Amino acid sequence: MWSFFKNNHKEKIDINANIDLERIPKHIAIIMDGNGRWAKERRLPRTMGHRQGVIAIKRIVKECSQLGVKYLTLYAFSTENWKRSQEEVSALMNLLVEFLISEINELHKNGVVVNSIGNISGLPEKCQEQLKASFERTKNNKGLVLNLALNYGGRDEIVNAVKKLVTKVDAGELTEEDINEDVLSRLMYTGGMPDPDLIIRPSGEQRLSNFLLWQCAYSEFWYSNIKWPDFSVEDLHNAIYDFQNRDRRFGAVK
Ligand code: IPE
Ligand code: IPE
Ligand code: MG
Repeated sequence: MWSFFKNNHKEKIDINANIDLERIPKHIAIIMDGNGRWAKERRLPRTMGHRQGVIAIKRIVKECSQLGVKYLTLYAFSTENWKRSQEEVSALMNLLVEFLISEINELHKNGVVVNSIGNISGLPEKCQEQLKASFERTKNNKGLVLNLALNYGGRDEIVNAVKKLVTKVDAGELTEEDINEDVLSRLMYTGGMPDPDLIIRPSGEQRLSNFLLWQCAYSEFWYSNIKWPDFSVEDLHNAIYDFQNRDRRFGAVK
């Protein structure tokens, strides 16, 4: 099974016996932030922070899969991140390709479905190719759905959904009366997936940065000062523990 780390699942769960394994959030979304500051603190180039961030991705994917999380959405590159230096952007794109090449066997073996949200056609050709190969290879798996948010923007997603909606109306497939929240939800990149229960943002920032604007209407938020490369399995457990002790009312009175 998972061979990223030697510790086996049982050991770790026993250490953190506080989590209720019967009530694991179905969909966790993470804004993986703080790679640059992690590197700066160590007088390293920003790209070293991103590289270390990939190691954090591996341990968190593995743990989510073992805990039985059904969907894990990772914000890896926003529609605004193109504003960064060409050097940084291309390092991020190369890391994506490297990650997919080196991890695909392990992911596949463990039943992970690799998926993405965002405008993939805007990514460099080599990223698109590697992504498509990963989607194809893992599409029939039954385990964790690993949703990589790439060239993703919440506003872009909503605009894109509205365009699809207009096309359907123009084609006579839908009328104004048919349009409701469910119809629009299905046209989002996350169509068919449940909304995130828990949104985690490390690094100390307390903002959404254009992440899952439509989907997070009733998500629980969890912030921490830990920089993403340092984000540990224990931090994940703490976030889940806090989540399990929140009172989600969805506007109703209990
Ligand atoms: C998150 O870390 C990674 C991406 C946005 C791709 P940052 O690169 O934003 O790190 P900070 O916020 O500068 O520390
Ligand atoms: C959000 O982080 C995007 C990703 C983690 C991919 P940013 O670092 O880009 O967000 P801002 O600029 O601090 O809002
Ligand atoms: Mg940042």
